[in-house]
Amino acid sequence: MKILLLGSGGREHALAWKIAQSLKVEKLYIAPGNAGTAQTGENVAMKATDFPAIKSFVLEKGIDMIVVGPEDPLVQGIYDYIKGNEETKHIAVIGPTKEGAQLEGSKEFAKGFMMRHAIPTARYKSITAENLEEGLAFLETLPAPYVLKADGLCAGKGVLILPSLEEAKKELREMLSGMFGQASATVLIEEFMSGIECSVFVLTDGEHYKVLPVAKDYKRIGEGDKGLNTGGMGSVSPVPFADEVFMEKVRTRIIEPTVNGLKEEGILYKGFIFLGLINVGDDPFVIEYNARMGDPETESVMLRIKSDLVELLEGVAAGNLDKKVLEIDPRCVGCVMLVSGGYPEAYKKGYVMNGLEEAAQSGSVIFHAGTALKDGQTVTNGGRVIAVSSYGATKEEALKKSYAVADIIDFEGKYFRRDIGFDL
Ligand code: AMP
Ligand code: GLY
Repeated sequence: MKILLLGSGGREHALAWKIAQSLKVEKLYIAPGNAGTAQTGENVAMKATDFPAIKSFVLEKGIDMIVVGPEDPLVQGIYDYIKGNEETKHIAVIGPTKEGAQLEGSKEFAKGFMMRHAIPTARYKSITAENLEEGLAFLETLPAPYVLKADGLCAGKGVLILPSLEEAKKELREMLSGMFGQASATVLIEEFMSGIECSVFVLTDGEHYKVLPVAKDYKRIGEGDKGLNTGGMGSVSPVPFADEVFMEKVRTRIIEPTVNGLKEEGILYKGFIFLGLINVGDDPFVIEYNARMGDPETESVMLRIKSDLVELLEGVAAGNLDKKVLEIDPRCVGCVMLVSGGYPEAYKKGYVMNGLEEAAQSGSVIFHAGTALKDGQTVTNGGRVIAVSSYGATKEEALKKSYAVADIIDFEGKYFRRDIGFDL
């Protein structure tokens, strides 16, 4: 089978690493990929959102399956584009339809969906310039802190949590007047929920589902979860509080109503559903849906899937996921992300990376996030540069190995958090 994987980050390297292990794969292409994915398949210089280029490529190479890593192509309708075309409709696409991707692409849609299917989530009100007064009044009924969310995609920046009512009112006005462009023309005001978060990944064929290993990511730049938000500084899997009892609640209250709700509403969804959950007094609530895998959770989760991922993805495409086996590795995995100095604010790229060969011999798995090949050398090419993932009998043991390898890999300005998993 010939597979095209779309995307270029650490998540895609982890997916490529897992896909390439399948005996079913004859050829794996990654578009556009990075220096790491080039070791697991062939990179193709093509944007993940350039649909006409993707169409020509899949026809030319005889691609059987497209696996979509990031949200942008999904929200822009890659599924519908490929499936709606006579020449390409036989190709399997792993990812929801444009309508299904609205679970991530529109927070207002996602909230409406959860209301329709009685899925536990924070109370909210949806506000535009037309009903601003209603929004201000709603804020007054809530206790601090205040949660404001831009409706549309904002590359992870569209959520503001504000300590005072004054600031919340001010920011609400600013969001509505274009702080995030069209994405914040509608803003959701949400009740603040207090608890610990985790990421649950569901693979569905639209009818059946499998729950992949649960992970937790660490978003802030600083230790102790302080400082600015980033694309993710590390992850661990499993998550101790997401035990059998908690996961049974997640299945019955969230996953089943979600999969069944999509089906009832006639929304075709064949792909990953990412549930951003918060544990409030042992009860799971949905913070957000994403239509893809998480990053850097994927860099932990892929190591814990023992089964052939391609076999599972075939089940997704064929609608017989219930006939496939998902075997999970009981070991713990800890992932540490190495980032460029200055990130998530301004940083420089192009620094030569050393120690990668030694790191590759360590027994840990190295996933490239923002790297490039330049004159035969691997150089930094992004804020988040490389992820180190390791197995251990405990998360402490796994993370200890990842930190040892993080010390071996070297580039100017390297920074990483040494406290991943601290709150579990
Ligand atoms: P999101 O972009 O929706 O993942 O939100 C970013 C972060 O904001 C989440 O990971 C949570 O930590 C926090 N957050 C979002 N909504 C709420 C809420 N209703 N209550 C508490 N924290 C929230
Ligand atoms: N790790 C959170 C995300 O991928 O959105």
